Amino acid sequence: MACFGLFKSKKKTRNSSGPNPATASAPPSNVSTSRSDDSAAGKHPSKSSASTSSPRSILAMYEEKAHNLRVFELDELRSATNDFNRMLKLGEGGFGSVYKGFIKPLDGKGDRIAVAVKKLNQHGVQGHKQWLAEVQFLGVVEHPNLVKLIGYCAVDGERGIQRLLVYEFMPNKSLEDHLFNRNYPGLSWNLRLQIALGAAEGLAYLHEGLEVQVIYRDFKASNVLLDKEFRPKLSDFGLPVGTYGYAAPDYIQTGHLTIESDVWSFGVVLYEILTGRRTYERNRPQNEQKLLEWVKQYPADGRKFSMIMDPRLRNQYSLGAAREVAKLANGCLVNNRKDRPKMREVVECLKQAIQMDSMEEHPSTSSLDKQKKPGSSSKR
Ligand SMILES: Nc1ncnc2c1ncn2[C@@H]1O[C@H](COP(=O)(O)OP(=O)(O)O)[C@@H](O)[C@H]1O
Ligand SMILES: [Mg+2]
Repeated sequence: MACFGLFKSKKKTRNSSGPNPATASAPPSNVSTSRSDDSAAGKHPSKSSASTSSPRSILAMYEEKAHNLRVFELDELRSATNDFNRMLKLGEGGFGSVYKGFIKPLDGKGDRIAVAVKKLNQHGVQGHKQWLAEVQFLGVVEHPNLVKLIGYCAVDGERGIQRLLVYEFMPNKSLEDHLFNRNYPGLSWNLRLQIALGAAEGLAYLHEGLEVQVIYRDFKASNVLLDKEFRPKLSDFGLPVGTYGYAAPDYIQTGHLTIESDVWSFGVVLYEILTGRRTYERNRPQNEQKLLEWVKQYPADGRKFSMIMDPRLRNQYSLGAAREVAKLANGCLVNNRKDRPKMREVVECLKQAIQMDSMEEHPSTSSLDKQKKPGSSSKR
C-alpha cells in the first residue's frame, strides 16, 4: 500500500520488523498502574509532555479559552451524582472512580446535561498549582476525537484536597468494552476501521495540531470512548499514568515518555482491534498468552495471516485491508522509536485501508452466511 512508502525506507535499517515481545511480558496483574512516582509523571505538560515552543502564545491560548472551563462546588457534583452513588458508578481506573451525573447548563435553562465525574485518588497527586495548570491546559484542547473536559472541582476536604474532573458523557462505553466484553454484540469491521481512524486523528492532533506537543501517555482501548453515533473520542489524555501491556520498550527502559511511545501503544490497540484479544490473556495456551508474540507467528503477508483475525468478525472483513492494518501496526511496534511512523502517517494509512475496504467485496464472507441472511450486506 502506498502509505507504507512513507516510512518504508526507514524500515530497512531497523533490526526487527515485528512487535517486540519484551513489552508484552509485563505483569498482567498491574493492569492500571499509577506512574506518578515516575520521573516522567507529575510535571506540567509544557515541560514533560510538551515542548514549549512559544510560551507566550500558550498563555494567550489559556486566557482566551480558560473561561470555557467550569469550576464546580463539591456540593454541585455531589448532587449531580446522587452523592457519588454506587449505582451511578461507571468504572474505576488508575486515577480513581468515574460516576455518571447530571449538571445544570451554564445559563440555567433547558435540560440537565449528562456528564462523567472523575473523582481522583488522593495518593500520588502533584501540588495544587501544578494540577490546576495541567487541567486548565487540557480544558483548552478541543477536537472532535477528544473527550471534552467541561470543568473541575478542587476543594479542601476532611482528608486533604479533593479533586474532581467533569467530562462530557460518552454513552456507548469504550472500545475495550466492545472488543472484549461478551455482553456486547461486537463491532463490525468497518466500524473498527473508523474507530481506529478517529482515535489516530485525536492522537495526531495532540502530537502535531497544537502549539505545544501533548503526549497522550496512557493510550489504550479503555480510553477510546464512543459517543452516541459510535464516533471515538479519547479520554484521559495528558494525565500522568501509564498502563502495562501498552507501554513502549523505550519508555520502560528510560522512563522517558515521547510521542513515539504513544505510537507504540497505538500499534498495540490496532492488534487488539484485529484480533479481539487483550495484550495478555492468562487463560490461553502458553504460546498465545502474549498478544504481540502470538501474532508474530502469522505474518501480515503470510498465507495463515487470517488466523489472527477476531472470530467475532465472522469472516466479514476485507483481507487486503486487514493485512495493511497489521503492517501498519508492525510499523508502530518497531523497537527503535525513531523508526515508528508519525500519527499523521498512521491517519493516512488508515484512510487508505478504509478506501481499500470499501472497494473490496469481502471475499471471505461464506456463502452459508449469505444464505442465512438474504439481502443483508456483507458489512454492518
Ligand atoms: N467521559 C466518560 N463518559 C462515559 N464513561 C466514561 C467516561 N470516562 C470514563 N468512563 C468510564 O469509566 C471507566 C473508568 O475510567 P478510567 O478511570 O479512566 O479508567 P480506565 O481508563 O483505566 O478504564 C471507563 O472504562 C469508562 O467506561
Ligand atoms: Mg480512562
